[in-house]
Amino acid sequence: MNLKELTAFIAAEFRKTYGRAPRWIAAAPGRVNIIGEHTDYNDGFVVPMAIEFYTIMAADQRADGKGIITFRSTSQPDAATVNLSQLLKPAAPKWGNYPRGGVAGFLARGVKLGGLDVLLHSTVPLGSGLSSSAALEVATATLLEAVTSKTIDPVEKALLAQKAEHDFAGVPCGIMDQFISALGREGHLLLLDCRTHKTKLVPMSDPSVALIIINTNVKHELSGGEYAERRAQCEEAARNLGVKSLRDMTADQLDKNKGKLSELVYRRARHVIGEIERTLHAAEGIRASSWPSVGNLMYASHTSLRDDYEVSCAELDIVVEIAEDIGYKDGIYGCRMTGGGFGGGCVALVKTDCVDAITKKIAADYKTKTGIEASIFVSRPAAGATILQN
Ligand code: GLA
Repeated sequence: MNLKELTAFIAAEFRKTYGRAPRWIAAAPGRVNIIGEHTDYNDGFVVPMAIEFYTIMAADQRADGKGIITFRSTSQPDAATVNLSQLLKPAAPKWGNYPRGGVAGFLARGVKLGGLDVLLHSTVPLGSGLSSSAALEVATATLLEAVTSKTIDPVEKALLAQKAEHDFAGVPCGIMDQFISALGREGHLLLLDCRTHKTKLVPMSDPSVALIIINTNVKHELSGGEYAERRAQCEEAARNLGVKSLRDMTADQLDKNKGKLSELVYRRARHVIGEIERTLHAAEGIRASSWPSVGNLMYASHTSLRDDYEVSCAELDIVVEIAEDIGYKDGIYGCRMTGGGFGGGCVALVKTDCVDAITKKIAADYKTKTGIEASIFVSRPAAGATILQN
């Protein structure tokens, strides 16, 4: 469903759920990261794009005037409620913590909120590494902008959404996902400097190439602890190397100082430092339409994530192997896992003419090798969060 269809859909569902039309509607997209994985919380660079998959939310003032916000989802049996006269804390159901965190961000900025009935629907596949959680947080903040008529600077909105994830979902994520969901631009990737929050738009308009997203349908849960562990290992590396963050080290400097780190932490740092360099090269390559070299950087990123950072899994590796087998001659430039890892999806850079054949081949080979059906789709770079009805 495109945004227009989704708007009609959520309005109709809202009517069925609450017996009246919604007053406000807002949406925020998921994202796919082309390159720059596990670099954002090291002050590094990332090159994500927003995808044409969204969390859409509709709301109206409560009919009874109570200071309670009720969030319902088209895919969840239980409603999540926020009592505005009580201190906000994480609570059951778990999915409600993302919108709860968004509400907390508004209250923390001194914005007054009244009771609301809210319904949400998401087309971002859950646990696929496509940032369904960031889409939900940013959609909440965008909806509340419409409700309160208070516009928040998009960078601040991304930070508000990131804090929602830290404080309410317990995942110490970086800024990439929320940032691209809030600031994505149609037809463009974003080169984001995660230290300064400065962005450069990278046009992705060459019709000869397309990005395919392959969801392994192996679910990931970043709150499992591995993500926080990787982040802590990077912080340990930076501390022992005497720098503020791994962004401040080159590969040469790291090698000279190898003795200051355990073997494991050295490999983690090697991934991050190498990935930051690859990301900057890839952004240049995309600008110059040097697709074979961008593809090679994507493969190198995957190898590093698999071997040094150890966040891949068997199914993601199988997808990348299938892509390598198909190869350049049959239209694949590069492929890598995308997002936090431990399941989720891969992104492949391919020749547009070959999309159909490649999709069929990956689906068939993946099924043979794993017994699992992959979900495969193509997305153009989409715009970031938007108010659809005000
Ligand atoms: C998750 C986090 C992001 C980022 C990626 C890995 O998606 O939410 O902040 O760290 O993992 O690149």
